[in-house]
Amino acid sequence: MVGSMVYQLMKNATPEEIERAGAGAYYTDHGKGVYPQSAAGTPFTAAVLQVKGDPIVDLTENLAAEQKARGTYEWLINMADDPDVIEPLKFLREREVVHYQRFGEALRIVQDYLQEPKLFIMPKPDFMNRD
Ligand SMILES: [Fe+2]
Repeated sequence: MVGSMVYQLMKNATPEEIERAGAGAYYTDHGKGVYPQSAAGTPFTAAVLQVKGDPIVDLTENLAAEQKARGTYEWLINMADDPDVIEPLKFLREREVVHYQRFGEALRIVQDYLQEPKLFIMPKPDFMNRD
């Protein structure tokens, strides 16, 4: 959605307007195409995603990611002055809050499960079955 908004904002802009908006370097590299990158120009890479294979670790990572996304939307809203940009950003920010809540619920479910007493039953080894 953010890529679509950036595209819509740039599609009728002249190179001079893009330069004045502070996106000259982006325009030089990508024209008006949508290229996922950070505000500092670092291209998106899956290397920023982490998976450990442990539900506590992975859910905690997801919780942090949702809050980082919410924070990014907050800062974008703070810098925007176009209501047609602000409203979708508010929608996206609210989604991150809901995602955070759902991951929090999942984490509590996992933690509750880990707190439950467990009964481990081992099969009787063969040597114990001899008469
Ligand atoms: Fe999210």
